[in-house]
Amino acid sequence: MTALLEIKGLTIDIARDEGPARVVDGITLSLEQGESLGIVGESGCGKSLTMLSLVGLLPNRIRATGGTAIFGGRDLLAMSQRELRAVRGSEIGFIFQDPMTSLNPVMRIGDQIAEALIYQKSMAKPAALARAEELLATVGIPSPKERMTAFPHELSGGMRQRVMIAMGLAGEPKLLIADEPTTALDVTIQAQIVDLVRDLKSRSDMSVVWITHDLALIAGLADRIAVLYAGTVVEDAPVQALFDHPTHPYTRGLLASLPTLSDEPMSRLASIAGTPPEPGRRPPGCPFAPRCSLVEPACTAAVPQLTPVPGSDPRHRVACPVTTRGAS
Ligand SMILES: Nc1ncnc2c1ncn2[C@@H]1O[C@H](COP(=O)(O)OP(=O)(O)OP(=O)(O)O)[C@@H](O)[C@H]1O
Ligand SMILES: [Mg+2]
Repeated sequence: MTALLEIKGLTIDIARDEGPARVVDGITLSLEQGESLGIVGESGCGKSLTMLSLVGLLPNRIRATGGTAIFGGRDLLAMSQRELRAVRGSEIGFIFQDPMTSLNPVMRIGDQIAEALIYQKSMAKPAALARAEELLATVGIPSPKERMTAFPHELSGGMRQRVMIAMGLAGEPKLLIADEPTTALDVTIQAQIVDLVRDLKSRSDMSVVWITHDLALIAGLADRIAVLYAGTVVEDAPVQALFDHPTHPYTRGLLASLPTLSDEPMSRLASIAGTPPEPGRRPPGCPFAPRCSLVEPACTAAVPQLTPVPGSDPRHRVACPVTTRGAS
């Protein structure tokens, strides 16, 4: 089976007056058709930039400087802006964290979705409006006919996020990328949105990449999880294998810091002391070494490569020389 998306050795640099600072340092990830992948990691680890680089939406002064991202046989990183515009929406749908930055505040939501359909699917306006209404119903918006004429500010946060999902789905993409689409919502609505995407996915063979800080939330949606740290993948595994055999010390820390019912709300991540390196200031070898309680000389000698985890699922791989020692 060939992968739908295969990212190899992706590097992303920020141009600064004092020289480029590397923020994504050799990410390798693949995704099968119909598979859903959760990407987790602390703020600033490069989750958003990695995904934005695929669709040509990196901010000014930030560039993908190396690697390939093969999608349907073509390298997204080598495409022109014009080619990428054709990919966006119709082949890769994107849902952003904050709907207010990507919904047009002065355009009725029905017209916004219809416009996407006219552009991406070359639909005539009446058919596009009818399809927009269907999409609003699909994403669970009550009274979709009446809602068609609403402006974004007239909807609740959860409803706006559903409109974003409807826009993301409009082009019937092969891949839907959701960049923390629920962090601003309360937990009940978050769970509803995750259920909705899981339900939509079960009815098509769409693949989903879901970026989140929240390991517990993603466990209900993802088939596989990639854990990012400072712009690299440190562990990549099927969900069950990751929860059963978390292997990278960073992943173990993330899991140990999952809130339990008895926890104070602010105690999350308390179990990992220290902070990730700033862009351009990554230490030699393993980027997690300065925070790691298991650190050894081998950790700072070379950047650890992803290797299979003994005794776990064959697809479970980790970049840590200490926790996999004696395996091969
Ligand atoms: N427009 C920008 N200009 C300068 N630096 C940026 C810009 N966007 C991101 N960065 C830096 O690049 C790094 C990676 O950013 P990115 O947005 O990919 O992180 P993230 O993992 O998505 O974080 P979060 O969970 O907070 O969304 C961060 O250190 C960030 O400060
Ligand atoms: Mg982000």
